[in-house]
Amino acid sequence: MPLIIAIDGPSGSGKSSTSRGVAERLGLRYVDTGAMYRAMTWWMLDHEVDVDDPEAVADECSRPQIRLEIDPREPRIVVDGRDVSHAIRQDDVASSVSKVAAVPEVRARLVREQRQIVSRCLADDIGVVMEGRDIGTVVLPDADLKIYLTADAEARAERRAREQQDGDPTYDVASAAANLADRDRRDSTRTVSPLQAASDAWHVDGTHLSLDEVIDAVIGYLPPGQR
Ligand code: DC
Repeated sequence: MPLIIAIDGPSGSGKSSTSRGVAERLGLRYVDTGAMYRAMTWWMLDHEVDVDDPEAVADECSRPQIRLEIDPREPRIVVDGRDVSHAIRQDDVASSVSKVAAVPEVRARLVREQRQIVSRCLADDIGVVMEGRDIGTVVLPDADLKIYLTADAEARAERRAREQQDGDPTYDVASAAANLADRDRRDSTRTVSPLQAASDAWHVDGTHLSLDEVIDAVIGYLPPGQR
């Protein structure tokens, strides 16, 4: 059976680089569920839907067509035919996404689509690494391997600031830290599917590890025959 790996953790813990790296090394597909919540948020902002109004977001959330490309070497996200892979990383999306992600109708739709992506991969006999906040707990509770990846707050803020600086050279660690703290609080306290480690997840702390070491640690939890 193809492998299914769930990787959860807070913003900036290195989930995306780790998940992509694991998928590349093992020849699996890579599904970034955060990109789906970001794409939904980008669409809401683009269509001037008030993201502070959960009912308005719920009413509109079935409209955007969201397509994820799941090759770990070139992941991409396309909304209504437009490649928004870069736009979804901008600050306006980052500061609104946890509001949109807290709307139950949004989650119901995206969780359904996330499971469909996995079903299609399995039908093609290909395994998947899926990353997010609720993958091991809600989306794929039967995953073969569950990882909860953390890093201390400062390391996460520095990583996020470096990512953001690609799009905005004035972005600094202090803004990244404030944005992350705010997002962590909202993501872990929301009522629907809060950020939470599954009881059967392996905890990996990447604070003092290189990317390769984190990838090794994750792969090390697989039974020898599956590495
Ligand atoms: O991983 P990320 O920073 O790109 O995620 C963006 C936002 O989406 C973040 O605020 C949490 C939310 N999210 C979620 O609620 N559930 C997921 N499975 C993935 C992301």
